[in-house]
Formats: sequence, C-alpha cells, structure tokens
Amino acid sequence: MRAWALLLLAAAPAAASEPDPDTRAALLADGDAEWGAYLAGECTACHQGDGGAEGIPAITGLPRDAFFDVMAAYKHKDLEHPVMTMVAGRLSYEEIAALAAYFEELQ
Ligand code: HEC
Repeated sequence: MRAWALLLLAAAPAAASEPDPDTRAALLADGDAEWGAYLAGECTACHQGDGGAEGIPAITGLPRDAFFDVMAAYKHKDLEHPVMTMVAGRLSYEEIAALAAYFEELQ
C-alpha cells in the first residue's frame, strides 16, 4: 500500500461509523444522567424547557432512544442543520447517551 493511502486511512475519523445495535443498546442502558446534566449547559441556551423559543423544539421528556437516534442522525449528517450538525459532530456517543438519559428525566 502506498504511503498516501495509509495517510487517508489514518485521517478517516473512527467516530464516523454508526454504533451497531448491541453497542447502541449498551450505550443507552449506561447513559449517565448526571454527566448529561453537566453537558446540557451547552444545549439549554437554545433549548428552553417549555420549547417556547422560536423554531427551537423542546427536547425535554423525549424517550432516550429517540433522542439518541436523532442526535446520531445529525452526527452522521443524515439530518442536516447548521447548528445541530456541528453540535452533535463534536459529541461522542457516550456523551449523546448521557444527554439522552438526562433530558428523558427532565419535564
Ligand atoms: C444554537 C442553538 C442550539 C444549540 C446550542 C443546541 N441546539 Fe439542538 N436544535 C436547535 C434547533 C434550531 C433545532 C431544530 C433543527 C431542525 O429543525 O432540524 C434543534 C434540534 C435538536 C433536536 C431534535 C429535536 C426534535 O424534536 O427533532 C435534539 C434532540 C437537539 N436539538 C438536542 C440538542 C442537544 C443535546 C444540544 C446540546 C449538546 C443542543 N441541541 C444544542 C438549536 C440548538
């Protein structure tokens, strides 16, 4: 294999692969709501509890699997949105699962 091909392989972000169903289930089961609360500071500037802010959906009380899947879709750019694609792209799946656990409990 040529050196440039190795470089291309090394540059491919590992996080771009979607978790397989078993990994997804394990991540969801282990989602740490306390860690999620810490991470959520970045989200609640836009996502208000009552969903009242213009064009910004409320994300409290979402079932954690639905929350995880929509964040994963932003992360993979299956769903495109200028802000959310960037926000989700920076988060690991562990962080997304933690946020999902936190927001699910929030009313
Ligand atoms: C700068 C504002 C902003 C920030 C910060 C932000 N969001 Fe969003 N979020 C939006 C907007 C706007 C949408 C609607 C996007 C669309 O229409 O596709 C959205 C959509 C979502 C959705 C999909 C909701 C649904 O019902 O479809 C989820 C889940 C979500 N955001 C979670 C988060 C999380 C978790 C964070 C923090 C890590 C976060 N957002 C940070 C503005 C923001």
